[in-house]
Amino acid sequence: MRVSPDSAAIGVEGLWKIFGPKAAKVLACDDRFLEPAALREKTGCTAAVRDVSFDVRPGEVFVVMGLSGSGKSTLVRCLTRLVEPTAGRVVIGGEDVGAATPARLRELRRHHVSMVFQHFGLLPHRRVIDNVAYGLEVQGRPRAERHARAAEILSLVGLDGHADAFPDQLSGGMQQRVGLARALAVDPQVMLFDEPFSALDPLIRRDMQAEVIRLHREVGKTMVFITHDLSEALKLGERIAIMRAGSIVQLGTPEELVGAPADDYVADFVRDVPRSHVLSLRWISRPPEPGEPLDGPELPASTVIKDAIAAASESSRPIRVVDGDELVGVVDRVDLLTFLSGQDTGDTVTAA
Ligand SMILES: Nc1ncnc2c1ncn2[C@@H]1O[C@H](COP(=O)(O)OP(=O)(O)OP(=O)(O)O)[C@@H](O)[C@H]1O
Ligand SMILES: [Mg+2]
Repeated sequence: MRVSPDSAAIGVEGLWKIFGPKAAKVLACDDRFLEPAALREKTGCTAAVRDVSFDVRPGEVFVVMGLSGSGKSTLVRCLTRLVEPTAGRVVIGGEDVGAATPARLRELRRHHVSMVFQHFGLLPHRRVIDNVAYGLEVQGRPRAERHARAAEILSLVGLDGHADAFPDQLSGGMQQRVGLARALAVDPQVMLFDEPFSALDPLIRRDMQAEVIRLHREVGKTMVFITHDLSEALKLGERIAIMRAGSIVQLGTPEELVGAPADDYVADFVRDVPRSHVLSLRWISRPPEPGEPLDGPELPASTVIKDAIAAASESSRPIRVVDGDELVGVVDRVDLLTFLSGQDTGDTVTAA
């Protein structure tokens, strides 16, 4: 499911990052195909990102998921060359990042791509407003302008009235809102999030996820969001890339990952997800049988299965599953019951 590189917000092609003194040599020979542990043993090098390619569409929320050490942070740092890739191509907004001069790179990081980290990275001796305005200060904007902009963004992230506080006077959740505000203040094309909420307790975390969804709706930025929390990935991601040992093992919509995991590693990630909460009617609809009545209730193919249960159980006729005017298929009560009764012991879960 590649989009055209020209229309992509971020395009990544054949990206490698090998840490270690002999990185270029490793890449040039067959050693690059070794599993990470074997490569480390043989050469002392770590292949953190291995031949990764993907495109992020403008305005998309693209999630990168994987176990600790799978290469998520390295991958995202390679995008703006905070980590210098060993090989491959990165294009942001049509610009070849690998070809950028140091001055152009600085500009790219200051104006076009901002990052939000797990540890908020706030400046402790500066007030909230000056933390938020920091990126604008680095850009050399006048004080009055940057304070006006920072105040506007503080209000957007729900921190009205906290402009003059110091970071350590705020809770963790509020500090991360300041981190978010700082990243937004420069009005970047792309926002990169490296596990920004993993240090927050679950309730605050849920608030922050809702905040990102709201912000995305309001400002429509392209976002790359790293997490190792599946529920976070499913909530935020339009598409999710699952990384294992430096490679992307599957890239798809939440529905594709949950409905058809590519291997055991992905299946393990999604095994506890109630499939009826993620899969849509499109997934289970079937062609009508000869003579089957086609005058039942109609639902869009994108309807999540759990939301179709009421309609199906109230009707003796199959549900017409439609995409606009087009009939995609039908689903009846028995189909739904069969699906629901199968999902607790479904294909992704192996019997104990
Ligand atoms: N500067 C470095 N020098 C050498 N090896 C590194 C360096 N940075 C990362 N690595 C190695 O690269 C691999 C990928 O690390 P990375 O931090 O990208 O993983 P991650 O998926 O972000 O993990 P986590 O979920 O724990 O943050 C790991 O084996 C790590 O030890
Ligand atoms: Mg990381």
